[in-house]
Amino acid sequence: MNDSDDADPLACMDGLTVTGCERCPELVDSRSRIVDGTGPADADLLFVGEAPGATEDERGEPFVGRSGDVLDDALRDVGLNRADIRITNCVRCRPPDNRDPRQGELENCRPYLNAEIQRVDPELLVTLGKVPAEHLLGRDVAVTGEAGEVYDASVGDSVQRVLVSVHPAATLYDPSQKETFAGVIKKAAAYAGDGGQSTLGSFD
Ligand code: URA
Repeated sequence: MNDSDDADPLACMDGLTVTGCERCPELVDSRSRIVDGTGPADADLLFVGEAPGATEDERGEPFVGRSGDVLDDALRDVGLNRADIRITNCVRCRPPDNRDPRQGELENCRPYLNAEIQRVDPELLVTLGKVPAEHLLGRDVAVTGEAGEVYDASVGDSVQRVLVSVHPAATLYDPSQKETFAGVIKKAAAYAGDGGQSTLGSFD
């Protein structure tokens, strides 16, 4: 482990909130603000997206644009709402022109993601789209084919369960993905019952 593997203690005091990070000069220029995760710090479900888009950059919260509406609807359909779950991104600053985050940017932000995962220690991580799935599993992922699968991933010195999902925006471009996304969210909900308490113990 070298210095860049550790969350900068001055930039991330509580494992959740990043302040004043300037590791990625291009993103420092393109962002309006750092977009931290939202939701309970002890949530059973931690959803992980790619990076903030324009609306998230403007409002300072992950998944508050059209993708967020799709996510909210799917959560509601299984009896959950945003207040029950935590949502964050692999990269906390909006990339210019909504391009994918670069490998170096993903690596720069990884200590903050790891710190958040270890602080929340959820029952389940849910990756929204290809970038977070590949980032957390450390391999190529065919998200459409692997959506709904649960794998183990090493995060720091812990092992976390990861449920692969298509990105909510995929359902806007390809309506056939709606059923897939709904199925994944239904599976995720089994790990978080009322008030975010896991109901897995009630499954044989
Ligand atoms: N897409 C993402 O991956 N993250 C967001 O916060 C919004 C859209």
